[in-house]
Amino acid sequence: MNKIRVNLKEHSYDILIGTDILAELGGIVEANNWGKEIFLITDPLVNDLYGDRVRKGFKGKLTLIETRRGENHKTLSEAARVFDLLVRHGAHRDSLIVALGGGVVGDLAGFVAANYMRGIPYIQVPTTLLAQVDAAIGGKTAVNHPKGKNLIGAFYQPWLVFIDVKTLTSLPARELRTGLAEIVKYGMIKDAGFFKFLEENAHHLNTKAFEKEDTLRAALKLWQTIVAESAKIKAEVVEKDEKEAKLRMILNFGHTFGHAIESLTHYRSYNHGEAVAIGMVAAALVAQKIGILEPNVTARLSRLLDKLGLPSEIKNFQVARLMAGINIDKKVLGGKVNFVLPEKLGKVVIRDNVPAQAVKKVLIELGAK
Ligand code: GLY
Repeated sequence: MNKIRVNLKEHSYDILIGTDILAELGGIVEANNWGKEIFLITDPLVNDLYGDRVRKGFKGKLTLIETRRGENHKTLSEAARVFDLLVRHGAHRDSLIVALGGGVVGDLAGFVAANYMRGIPYIQVPTTLLAQVDAAIGGKTAVNHPKGKNLIGAFYQPWLVFIDVKTLTSLPARELRTGLAEIVKYGMIKDAGFFKFLEENAHHLNTKAFEKEDTLRAALKLWQTIVAESAKIKAEVVEKDEKEAKLRMILNFGHTFGHAIESLTHYRSYNHGEAVAIGMVAAALVAQKIGILEPNVTARLSRLLDKLGLPSEIKNFQVARLMAGINIDKKVLGGKVNFVLPEKLGKVVIRDNVPAQAVKKVLIELGAK
């Protein structure tokens, strides 16, 4: 098992990463005496796949709360339903929530944990790649509002993040790829060596390796390394800037363009990672345009994304609509758009003075009209 400490004074916690470890969580919770009553919050599909493994370790001492599946249920009303169930089951301050699932379950259960009785302990057990390398780490909890994603929420750190990479074997190929975009992001923003490692191993990073017994073991070992490295990079950034005063913004590399692409297509045509992949290439091209990045970095980024099956161009988009989308992005501070731009492999800077003309040219280069 890999162990990464997230140092946040009295809110410090561990990220544990292993293979086929779901049944071990119960023992860890018991040894730490973390919860008098334990509530397992998950969705029906994940419960079918992994609920029993988790329950086994808790020797049955778990109360199940199932949430409705899907981003459109990451809402205040779904949170209210969970609050009602917690009240009905008599949950109190020393109860523990275990959030088992992808980003939707994690964000919603984290939001509930942050607010129930002004905050009760919770553990993130992310089962998608995207949640394992991003959403479950760093204490961002939220529900959506009709006017925007994650508009209502709090920073509230978990007691533990417990990652079993074996859960990746049940993900559809596209779901695995969406997480890979965030993993490439970590190489770009912080670690050139990790980026190179991803280039060298890109051909193994797909669902094919899970299909055969003889490749499965090696694949899981590789995923464990990659998830641990990503978690380490994210933890380092969160430690230095928990509430996103500045540095944590570097985690939004590719997201300024990415969010615009996602929202313009109503979160249907592109999933998060696909939009971020295009967004990273766009940001690299902008960096090139303003003279802070060598073109070969953009070329390597596009090549790697391509090898991983991720897109890097935008057709059928109108430049004006994309520009408008970028301006309403929530990373706008004091009326200025903050762009996270690469300077070299493994290093990004935040710039709020990028000329609109440079952005426009890049969008056209990427295929927008
Ligand atoms: N997903 C970006 C962050 O956690 O700050």
